[in-house]
Amino acid sequence: MKTPRFLQIAQSDPAAIRAELLAGLSAPVATISPKYLYDALGSRLFAAITELEEYYPTRTEAAIFAAHAPEMAKTLGVVGTLVDLGAGNCEKAARLFSEFDVARYVAVDISVDYLRDSLHCLQRQHPQMDMLGVGLDFSTHIRLPDEVGTGPRTLFYPGSSIGNFTPADALGFLREAHAASLGGALLIGVDLVKPREVLELAYDDPLQVTAAFNRNLLRHLRRLTSADLRIEDWRHVALFNEQESRIEMHLEAVHAVTVRWPGGQRHFARGERLHTENSYKWRVDDFAALLRQAGFSELHHWSDELGWFAIFAAQARTR
Ligand code: AVJ
Repeated sequence: MKTPRFLQIAQSDPAAIRAELLAGLSAPVATISPKYLYDALGSRLFAAITELEEYYPTRTEAAIFAAHAPEMAKTLGVVGTLVDLGAGNCEKAARLFSEFDVARYVAVDISVDYLRDSLHCLQRQHPQMDMLGVGLDFSTHIRLPDEVGTGPRTLFYPGSSIGNFTPADALGFLREAHAASLGGALLIGVDLVKPREVLELAYDDPLQVTAAFNRNLLRHLRRLTSADLRIEDWRHVALFNEQESRIEMHLEAVHAVTVRWPGGQRHFARGERLHTENSYKWRVDDFAALLRQAGFSELHHWSDELGWFAIFAAQARTR
């Protein structure tokens, strides 16, 4: 049996993270990157969200994979090295191993610690597969380490995480993915435009799990910055901005609040918001055009009957 290898690429230091967060909190429209939603509890709350009836993306994407994996495998050909961006518990990729011809599996997540247990468990099920866990923040640059190997790679980016990027940043990310694939391919899940009621219920569920997920950001922020944020002062807001084609999540001050931290403060009027996430919803044609603009070709996509979610396969090879 082989054994998984692990490596962590340098993370930003706490002082730089604190400065970035406080700058966001102080900005005219206060904004915090959605990546701070995922501390240990936040990751668990997100896992709970994916089990909600109202949150359609996870189960819809899973159903598309279940229905079309053999066809996807045929389209991709020999996968060789599968690079799973944002692997977490590695569950989604693991389900493809039987269908896809994977020789080496590279799980990438922000912290290598998220990957240890799942990769050890996966290795037992696939004793001959090369497995590598990489701790890397790939949100601005996809700089994969040499240990990934020199051959073409299939980048796997499921879950519609691309939705966190503005269209301009999504194009930048796809260009990086194109380069990082070394002439390989991309398999990516994309959430699609649908009726407002469906979208808003998915991001503001009656059980209030998403509200807890959003408000938990305040706890994380308090830990990272020492700002005196209080959960009770903020309510969860999720709305579909049709103009921008995105769900927005905000934390809204329920009354006037002054947030203080060592060295500064920020006043929020009642009703003023802290913007915590954008989740863009695409149209199939627009996303296909974006992939082409990023240099990809031979596009294929699979969708569900309602057209709520799509999985795209695209080639980066230059012939
Ligand atoms: C993990 C970014 C795909 O946008 O649907 C779920 C995060 N936010 N509920 C999404 C999320 C609120 C999720 N992504």
